Amino acid sequence: MSHPSKHLLAIEGLEPPHIGDLLDLAESYALLNRSGKTQRDLLKGRTLINLFFEDSTRTRTSFELAGKRLGADVINMSVSTSSVNKGETLLDTASTLNAMHCDLLVIRHAQSGAPALLSQKVDAAVINAGDGTHEHPTQALLDALTIRRHKGRLEGLVVAICGDITHSRVARSNVHLLTTMGSRVRLIGPPTLIPADADRLGVEVFHDMKKGLAGADVVMMLRLQKERMAGGLVPSAREFFRFYGLDAEKLAHAKPDSIVMHPGPMNRGVEIDSAIADDPVRSVIGEQVEMGVACRMAVLDVLARRLPRNR
Ligand code: CP
Repeated sequence: MSHPSKHLLAIEGLEPPHIGDLLDLAESYALLNRSGKTQRDLLKGRTLINLFFEDSTRTRTSFELAGKRLGADVINMSVSTSSVNKGETLLDTASTLNAMHCDLLVIRHAQSGAPALLSQKVDAAVINAGDGTHEHPTQALLDALTIRRHKGRLEGLVVAICGDITHSRVARSNVHLLTTMGSRVRLIGPPTLIPADADRLGVEVFHDMKKGLAGADVVMMLRLQKERMAGGLVPSAREFFRFYGLDAEKLAHAKPDSIVMHPGPMNRGVEIDSAIADDPVRSVIGEQVEMGVACRMAVLDVLARRLPRNR
């Protein structure tokens, strides 16, 4: 099992064998989870702390489940009731957790680079659960695993990532992972929501949804990240849906066996029509959540193997 670092801070920098190994291990955990079995001895005696400075439903819960299924002691630190509210800095919070001999630290933060900064200050293995507009590496892993389960491969697939690309750490991690693994990635959105440097990412850019979706194997929809927008970058939710919301008419331009993905949380009627989100044949949104637990088990497993036993 190859992994180049003590931490998982980003997909950028990982090579195909690193990603392939994580996905293969995650696939074995997906099968284990479906069998109802657990492997509670693997992280026995290890402590995992979830430190979320931003809201989360899927990522935090699945890291908790993943840690518990592997036998770790899992602490969910509630930032809203912590001493952060009394003015304690991120680094002082990190030192405090370090003194408690935490083994695995999962962090989500609004500032890009916060997990990387923390990783230099703590002994624990640090996992980025989403930092600002930078990366959300475990989301890209679970997306890739879901795609691979449906399409049997990543290489050569046409993957359309649609909506608010500029503010999306999910898009950034997916672009790195999918281009590294040989997929052809298209970014679709209004010019105001496509990063200026997109052409340097090895992707194709489209502003017309129907043209961008033509022949796509995978359609990945993204939420408008209003919390990260400085001003009104889209005229209105209704206008956005008209041009960029996924409905049956637009989806008809993708391949007939294309799958529809969304990392969640969804804004129904803004970036995706409910009928598509709930389509039992095309939508794999529920499976993405399921694969999230398996991928996070794989990441915890791989990083824990590199930790010293008695800290
Ligand atoms: N996809 C994702 O990161 O969801 P949460 O914000 O609910 O964790």
